[in-house]
Amino acid sequence: MDTYRIASIDGDGIGPEVMEQARKALAAAGDRFDFDLEYTHFDLGGHRYLTTGEVLPDDELTQIRSHDAILLGAVGTPDVPPGVLERGLLLRIRFEFDQYVNLRPVKLYEGVPTPIAGLTPDRCDFLVIRENTEGSYVGSGGFFRKGTPYEIATQNSINTRHGVERVILNAFERATKRNNKLTVAHKTNVMGFAGDLWWRTAQELAPQFPQVELEYVHADALCLHMINTPERYDVIVTDNLFGDIVTDLGAAIQGGLGMAASGNINPAHGTPSMFEPVHGSAPDIAGNGWANPVAAVLSAAMCMDDLGEPEAAIALEVAATSVLPQLKSMGGPDMGMSTDQIGDLIAERVAG
Ligand code: NAD
Ligand code: IPM
Ligand code: MN
Repeated sequence: MDTYRIASIDGDGIGPEVMEQARKALAAAGDRFDFDLEYTHFDLGGHRYLTTGEVLPDDELTQIRSHDAILLGAVGTPDVPPGVLERGLLLRIRFEFDQYVNLRPVKLYEGVPTPIAGLTPDRCDFLVIRENTEGSYVGSGGFFRKGTPYEIATQNSINTRHGVERVILNAFERATKRNNKLTVAHKTNVMGFAGDLWWRTAQELAPQFPQVELEYVHADALCLHMINTPERYDVIVTDNLFGDIVTDLGAAIQGGLGMAASGNINPAHGTPSMFEPVHGSAPDIAGNGWANPVAAVLSAAMCMDDLGEPEAAIALEVAATSVLPQLKSMGGPDMGMSTDQIGDLIAERVAG
């Protein structure tokens, strides 16, 4: 029997509440599909920072590295200045473990109200692949003459051939396992250097994947098409910042953050990949049992798929999404069931 060692960072707010449900569902999957999960809990996030001043000590990063995967709930509390945890914890893990493929499926599930009038699940099922280690996120830039009327602030977008090529290659491979269509999104009409590198690289890789239809779209037009005609898309690959923005739009289209899951993947498997719901710590509803745990369970499903347990992944996705039509709302006080009750129901259905 396989045993998977999971580093668990429950984090703040609703993070621990939804992670508990993900672990219940995973335990049921382990019983059914014959694997074990061994968790190490890392007390990281806003609470830890406010009590000890620590964000992610080096020795804890080293301990996390020795695990098969990382599950993260959410980090952030209103009393920690913006950027401290985002850069020091989340981005540090993505960068240090070279998790260069950020998978963000946009799927409208049956029985989920979407703000897009008339949209049906058969028309909305695509995968955004966001480059996760470069672009505007690297922290390159600085101030000059700060605080003066002549102040200069630069924030550079770093795009390497190596970084762009590896993520596009991964997107091509994933497209061949789906519907053989790959869309590159950028702004070649304005960002003539980075955009050129992205689109040229995609075109140079295309002959290796003759079955995949490759197309280009400007990132602003993508936002329009995602709303009007999401059925155009199968796999979309884009840079770090465009990917961040369009996947929030994707979450809205699929009915909200309660359903949006993600995986930060290092395909080389030399370091652990990290799986997290797209939502944050939701301090406005924390502690009430009002959080929708489905995004956390779907992230756990992506984790099992990445660890080589595809049957468990499918069972987790099917069970988690089967409860959605029973909810009165997709999160909050009027959900009709508590976080814990939803978690129990999902685990029951995973068990089969
Ligand atoms: P948020 O995602 O925490 O909340 C946005 C809104 O959606 C809130 O009204 C919240 O109640 C609701 N919501 C979110 N998840 C929900 C769920 N599962 N079920 C029901 N309702 C849900 O975003 P925010 O309020 O902008 O950020 C709060 C904190 O989280 C900040 O400190 C922010 O930096 C942090 N954050 C962390 C991550 C992460 O850890 N990956 C991601 C985004 C934001
Ligand atoms: C996300 C979040 C993060 C990002 C923040 C919290 C650093 O918005 O995971 O999409 O910008 O990548
Ligand atoms: Mn984001």
